Amino acid sequence: MLGTVESGEGRLPGPQIGAAHTEGIVLSAEGIVKRFGALTVLDNVAFALSRGEAVGVVGPNGAGKTTLLSVLMGALEPTAGSVHYLGQNVTRLPAAERCRVGIARTHQVPKSFSGMTVFENALVAAQHGGGHRASEAYDRVVETLRLTGMLRVANRRAETLGLLDRKRLELARAVATDPKVLLLDEIGGGLTDGEAGELVSTIKVLRERGIALVWIEHIVHVLVQVTERLVCLDSGKIVADGKPRDVMKHPDVVRAYLGSAVG
Ligand SMILES: Nc1ncnc2c1ncn2[C@@H]1O[C@H](COP(=O)(O)OP(=O)(O)OP(=O)(O)O)[C@@H](O)[C@H]1O
Ligand SMILES: [Mg+2]
Repeated sequence: MLGTVESGEGRLPGPQIGAAHTEGIVLSAEGIVKRFGALTVLDNVAFALSRGEAVGVVGPNGAGKTTLLSVLMGALEPTAGSVHYLGQNVTRLPAAERCRVGIARTHQVPKSFSGMTVFENALVAAQHGGGHRASEAYDRVVETLRLTGMLRVANRRAETLGLLDRKRLELARAVATDPKVLLLDEIGGGLTDGEAGELVSTIKVLRERGIALVWIEHIVHVLVQVTERLVCLDSGKIVADGKPRDVMKHPDVVRAYLGSAVG
């Protein structure tokens, strides 16, 4: 239901915004500015994600993509602007609490715990990230590992996994929290084309489960297999937002990428 965000503790505090503006929108950001000292990394960014939608985010190195993801999930507070989730203002809600209500992310550099098995890694995420009690967390982990193709390596220690499975584990740790929105930061980086194809299949399965996605990736031909909309960031501003083929032809996008490989 719009206007309420259920968590383990109940409803989130905070003002509600008009349902007319939020109909169909699961996560939005308005007027986001992020400065680090004198450096403006995000400059008045507006972004909205519909329920179940998959949006790709592209842009050159240093454009502000990871910073935007961090603002959306609460790891960074914006200098100005607001973030709304299911109609509620979550701008000041810490990352851990946003995770509990359904916003999960994967990191550009995988953050799984070495010395722990795949199962244990997902269990920690389900219990601490997702707020699931022990009994339900086990079921959640089994379901997550099945969805992400990781059941076959459930008892392997994280550090013994190959790159594709380390990426899948990063995905599994996020999915174990039972997200409505999944924010993926260059999860395909470093994979061969074949491996990226396998990862795409896994991410498609998550999408079919109704999870909305924001996926930052430099490899556009991989991205467009899952997303129907692309956003291009350049120097902290959104320079294009629309159908992938239109965005990739947009003069500002071509200029941003001049000399870079995008596909
Ligand atoms: N904590 C920080 N303190 C100072 N500057 C930062 C901080 N985090 C990011 N930056 C700067 O903000 C800019 C945008 O960084 P960000 O990581 O968001 O870019 P990106 O688009 O994700 O790049 P990439 O494609 O290389 O991952 C860069 O100039 C970066 O050096
Ligand atoms: Mg980045």
